[in-house]
Amino acid sequence: MPMSGKSKGFPARAIVLGLCSRLHHRTPMTDYPFDCSPLSPAIGLEIRGLDLATTPSAETTAVINRVFLERHVLVFRDQDMTPARQLAFAETVGEPAIYPFVKGLDGFPAITPIIKLPHETVNFGGLWHSDTTYLERPPKATMLLAREVPPVGGDTLFASQVAAHNALSGGMKQLLAPLRAVNASSKADVTRTREDRIDKDGGAEKKSFEAIHPVIRTHPESGAKALYVNRGHTVRFEDLTEDESAGLLEFLFRHQTREEFQCRVRWAPGTLVMWDNRACQHYPVNDYHGHRREMHRITLKGDVPR
Ligand code: SIN
Repeated sequence: MPMSGKSKGFPARAIVLGLCSRLHHRTPMTDYPFDCSPLSPAIGLEIRGLDLATTPSAETTAVINRVFLERHVLVFRDQDMTPARQLAFAETVGEPAIYPFVKGLDGFPAITPIIKLPHETVNFGGLWHSDTTYLERPPKATMLLAREVPPVGGDTLFASQVAAHNALSGGMKQLLAPLRAVNASSKADVTRTREDRIDKDGGAEKKSFEAIHPVIRTHPESGAKALYVNRGHTVRFEDLTEDESAGLLEFLFRHQTREEFQCRVRWAPGTLVMWDNRACQHYPVNDYHGHRREMHRITLKGDVPR
């Protein structure tokens, strides 16, 4: 369903605009300064014909920010960017943060190289999660630029947590509304996915972080409600034991990644994806043993989830 903001005109554009307005009851935008198409009904927008190696105009940046809030995942194709340019683009949409577990690129501490080598079998963050929810202020967004990808495989799945929240029954929403959950960096499954990459020089292997956040959060910019637990980092509900929490958490972990809430991104060198950690979670598929994959990752500072 390709669409063009300028050249192909109204009908195709109206599909995405209608989609976005149906999902979020917003007034449709009157124009897009780029070609784009949705990745699925629930989430994701692929954008073509926009060169981020030069700073986008204020108008284009405003549209990017707007569709980001509506679609949660933006995929920019064919970007030829140096690390300095990637950082400069990140600074137009937020404030880059330092990832506490893996050392950044030389000269660019905010850009974390995410590399899986041909002999490795574990990939970084290889399970459903929203980024670093064990921090008091988890990043609002993450930006990943593909440098080298396997010939096939190594896709990343995303799931809308707004759609996941909206699909819950009224009774379940009421039950979850007052609950908060404990998120820990030491949760065993996710710890294993970064073992080979840990920044031992910085002593990061000794660090452990824990934060308590609402189970349903309200997006600070769009006002949308989103489910905010995740299999990677959430260990239990506040004031309950892990055993007592396990049944309901397992239901939520399964529910929140249902296929109809998802889109799938197939990477190519130069693909840059930016996702909203306040509204979605992601799963990098580990199906490309024997091949090298290298991504450059920047996280953007966020606020305390409410
Ligand atoms: C991550 O979880 O930040 C990495 C995602 C990916 O490698 O696709």
